[in-house]
Amino acid sequence: MTPSFEYKTLVDFEDVKNLGSILEQAFVTSADNREKFFNSMGLENLRVICRDGKVAGGLATLSMGMWLGGQSVPMVGIAGVGIAPEYRGGGVAIALIQNMLQELYAQGTPISVLYPATQQLYRKAGYEQGGHYCLWEISTQDIRLHKPSLSLQPIANLNCEILHHLYKQQAKLIHGYLDRNSSIWDTLIKPEEKETVYGYLIGSQEQPQGYIIFSQHFQTDQTVIKIRDWVVLSHAAAQTFWSFLANHRSTIKKILWKSSLIDSLSLLLPEQTAKIKHQKRWMLRIVDVYKALQLRGYKLGVETELHLAVKDDLLTANNDRFILSVANGQGEVRQGGKGELQIDIQGLASLYTGLFTPHDLKLAGKLDASDTAILAATEIFTTSSPWMPDFF
Ligand SMILES: CC(C)(COP(=O)(O)OP(=O)(O)OC[C@H]1O[C@@H](n2cnc3c(N)ncnc32)[C@H](O)[C@@H]1OP(=O)(O)O)[C@@H](O)C(=O)NCCC(=O)NCCS
Repeated sequence: MTPSFEYKTLVDFEDVKNLGSILEQAFVTSADNREKFFNSMGLENLRVICRDGKVAGGLATLSMGMWLGGQSVPMVGIAGVGIAPEYRGGGVAIALIQNMLQELYAQGTPISVLYPATQQLYRKAGYEQGGHYCLWEISTQDIRLHKPSLSLQPIANLNCEILHHLYKQQAKLIHGYLDRNSSIWDTLIKPEEKETVYGYLIGSQEQPQGYIIFSQHFQTDQTVIKIRDWVVLSHAAAQTFWSFLANHRSTIKKILWKSSLIDSLSLLLPEQTAKIKHQKRWMLRIVDVYKALQLRGYKLGVETELHLAVKDDLLTANNDRFILSVANGQGEVRQGGKGELQIDIQGLASLYTGLFTPHDLKLAGKLDASDTAILAATEIFTTSSPWMPDFF
């Protein structure tokens, strides 16, 4: 018998309670943490799936944006996907994700992003690798930059507009950065139990050139600074960032910070002593091809046209031919054309963010195209490697 699924966008008290127990078990966490997760997400952003009338699993949606080519593209992040163990292996998760994507399409959302625990599930729904999340570490002794160029000002209240303003200046320039919502900001500035979060503006109060937000920890017999968030907008700020951290060396052994796979901050260091401690690739789904291509920004100076034939078995309005014309940093999309670059919705995700070149994607069997179409796609999409410092 085919199981009957019901996807619910409006969850009641009983649904929340049932989903809470499922997520607590699925993510091996406590009732306290699950409560914090629901509070930070907002109950209106929870979705559940019922099988034969019973809550079998659910997820949380986070509305925000992603900076791509200098434009913020509306994006919905997905977190906390969990299915009760007794229902696993029966297609509940895929039904949940597919229903959620149909809802996002109907709402007019261009793209969706998540961190996968397993890729196979999300690939089946049309997500593909879109960019990096990368955690770096260095010993404070190895920084060897000790004289700050700028002054630093402690920030009394981390929930302040100046941080958002500085962040935005950096975010616009980095392909893949989040246009953060309040829930993401909260996770950066709110201390965990027995933790203090410190924040400093880099430069004067009137004209700051960056900031650093961090917490200090005792970890397996050594002391570390975990940088929760940073912005560096000038060379003097980058120099000050390092000297500020190096001047903790009498008590702090290591610094951990999030950056690109090719971390430009470490270019200031005397030796190649910074190491990647952990990395992960986030996945992206193009929910609405037309909107996704139209709303992102493109490189200035590129003036070309690409004829795409897109295959999407789930969101069938995407299953079409499109002409993307790029000029003056903007893209214009029309239906139709010669379909010279054939790509499925997964491959389009990696092409769209520029994580892989059209040539890489052709080798991986994710697209097929004429040489001229490959050249045009390379001109349009190839960029610095997309990354973000946020995990959700
Ligand atoms: C991962 C999880 C959500 C899958 O739920 P599920 O209902 O069993 O998944 P489905 O039956 O819908 O599976 C859909 C597809 O994903 C694949 N898949 C599911 N779980 C998988 C896993 N753990 N590893 C690899 N692939 C998996 C299935 O093979 C299936 O593909 P197929 O039909 O080609 O075989 C569930 O095991 C769970 O809640 N785990 C604990 C929490 C978690 O890891 N959440 C994901 C956070 S990103």
